[in-house]
Amino acid sequence: MNITRTAQKSKNSPAFEVERIRADFPILSLRVNDKPLVYLDNAASSQMPQPVIDRLTRYQTTQHANINRAVHYLSEVATSEFEEARRKLQAFINASNEREIIFTSGTTDAINLVMHGYGRKMIGPGDEIILTTLEHHSNIVPWQMLAEEKGAKIRIVPINDAGELLIDEYEKLFNSRTKFVGATHVSNALGTINPIKEMIAFAHARGVPILIDGAQAAPHIKVDVQDLDCDFYAFSGHKLCGPTGIGILYGRAAILESMQPFKGGGDMILSVTFEKTIYNTIPHKFEAGTPPIAAAIGLGAAVDYLSTIGMDAIAAHELNLLQYATEKINSLPGVRIIGTAKHKAAVLSFAVDGVHPHDIGTLLNQDGVAVRTGHHCAQPVMQRFKIPATSRASFAFYNNIREVDALIDGIRTVQKVFT
Ligand code: ALA
Repeated sequence: MNITRTAQKSKNSPAFEVERIRADFPILSLRVNDKPLVYLDNAASSQMPQPVIDRLTRYQTTQHANINRAVHYLSEVATSEFEEARRKLQAFINASNEREIIFTSGTTDAINLVMHGYGRKMIGPGDEIILTTLEHHSNIVPWQMLAEEKGAKIRIVPINDAGELLIDEYEKLFNSRTKFVGATHVSNALGTINPIKEMIAFAHARGVPILIDGAQAAPHIKVDVQDLDCDFYAFSGHKLCGPTGIGILYGRAAILESMQPFKGGGDMILSVTFEKTIYNTIPHKFEAGTPPIAAAIGLGAAVDYLSTIGMDAIAAHELNLLQYATEKINSLPGVRIIGTAKHKAAVLSFAVDGVHPHDIGTLLNQDGVAVRTGHHCAQPVMQRFKIPATSRASFAFYNNIREVDALIDGIRTVQKVFT
């Protein structure tokens, strides 16, 4: 495929009007260091469009009260809007029932919920948990805590030099002690898209449940949890144009019913006496205390916004940006891409010979270009490549070719400064 031609076609395509979309994002018109902001740190957090900002304002100015607690007007409105947001999330990932959507504070909270609610009940001494080298710390550390508590063992799927999982090795890790699998859908550090449908089928054929960390996938790829047939799928709101402090855990109803609640408190009960508490039904059993009501409603507006543009159109535009940026970076002597999987989402980790990633980030910032530098909370990935850190440009559907060019110009400036 001619990458440049494809990217330019997308730039002019009436089907994806990136400039019209950009106009929805007030923050994109900022200037940083007297240069137009070029925001390429979307894997860390995306920006919020005006319709989501407006939805939050409407909620706060006309609809706010606590939910599930009172019969007054505002409480009923807030409760109904909160539950409507749950249905929007259900539709967004094609869950079969809204009861399978649990609001959490984000992906990390969702994974911790599964570790406490499922793992502590079902995983015991000598049992094994399979994770992959590509996991974010949030899908490593909770399982290490569990393994330490229970005397269980963690086994790791290795990757090749392109940053792709070795699926043969994944399959070889299964044995009679395997009790759980945790795998990321898309690597936050490298952008690799993992073959999770096949991984899920393989685990299920051996009776092993599997959790998918979708934090870096849900903003970029159409997710259908029924088609994937996963047991758990988690993602965060702030990476897909929603607010911080909100995310979801999808869980198959039957598995959620079997789990222990993670947090105790108000709203997660049907009745309480000092002798005994009867827990609420799902999903409320897992939503103790006043939830982030405004954030959940904002997330509902965010998935409406993304759905209006269309996840397939988003994925196609981002792939064009990635291909264009990959070709440009590959043409720069002394710059190396870390993570060259065949199937990638719009994440570009790179190293510049002789320059520390933090210096790259600092100099790019002087040109208004925002990238993340560091280990990206994925230190095992860095260890695999024997590097301490990378610079990472991560694209969203509102980025354009001009911004990729600004990144490339910025890297050239870094090279001039350091040679
Ligand atoms: N997990 C986020 C990232 O990759 C914060 O940057």
